[in-house]
Amino acid sequence: MNVILFGPPGAGKGTQAQFIVEHFGIPQISTGDMLRAAVKAQSPLGVAAKSIMDAGGLVSDEIVLGLVKERISESDCRDGFILDGFPRTTPQADALTSLLGGLGKHIDHVISLDVDSAEIVQRLSGRRTCPSCGKGYHVAYDAPKVAGICDACGSALIQRNDDRVETVQNRLDVYREQTSPLKEYFEQRGLMRHIDGNGTIQDIQGQICSLLKGSAGDRP
Ligand code: AP5
Repeated sequence: MNVILFGPPGAGKGTQAQFIVEHFGIPQISTGDMLRAAVKAQSPLGVAAKSIMDAGGLVSDEIVLGLVKERISESDCRDGFILDGFPRTTPQADALTSLLGGLGKHIDHVISLDVDSAEIVQRLSGRRTCPSCGKGYHVAYDAPKVAGICDACGSALIQRNDDRVETVQNRLDVYREQTSPLKEYFEQRGLMRHIDGNGTIQDIQGQICSLLKGSAGDRP
């Protein structure tokens, strides 16, 4: 089962991807996480991406496609994967279709998490992330057991650079201009499934479970 989690910054894609990994046993492919790992490692790719990410812009299609192509070819993606934060532009979507076609694969579902703008700002301003294991939290909605400390590995949690208020607005503008047209793209291909992403994390997990259970591998 190959799934795309789609939605604006802060919609809950990463949070729900963690749930799908645990319940359906397929890996998450997050281009944001891969790019942040490259920034942390100070690789040439990471150095090139850092200022763009900090400003809330999109890294070039070429860089992102290179990362996804390599990752999707790994053996743990054989029985399925969840794409989180990719594709984000029409050229990325076209490239994904042709990449999967060449591997004899296809996308089964694009799950759009539809969330109000005011709620998104609340979610991003309260997000905290573990820099060691990558687990995500929210100071109010999904708090760690000990404030500021990761439940999973005990590291001190951080706030992402691009979660500052001025950058969040730019990320939302970039989403509206460059990524939201993909809704129509996937609607036209009969792949788009909408979920009301305004509920609690558990509500949304339930909706995703109902959608995915019994539909694994179905071609719409
Ligand atoms: P990326 O990491 O992909 O960021 P994003 O798409 O902006 O998504 P986020 O990680 O901000 O949000 P999310 O939807 O995963 O929400 P989360 O689950 O954390 O990309 C970062 C940057 O990398 C981009 O700006 C770009 O520069 C670059 N990049 C990445 N991919 C690229 C691509 N394909 N092309 C070009 N550039 C690319 O939830 C948010 C918060 O809300 C958390 O605190 C969580 O606990 C909380 N929360 C989640 N669900 C709920 C709920 N139901 N109720 C209450 N709180 C909730």
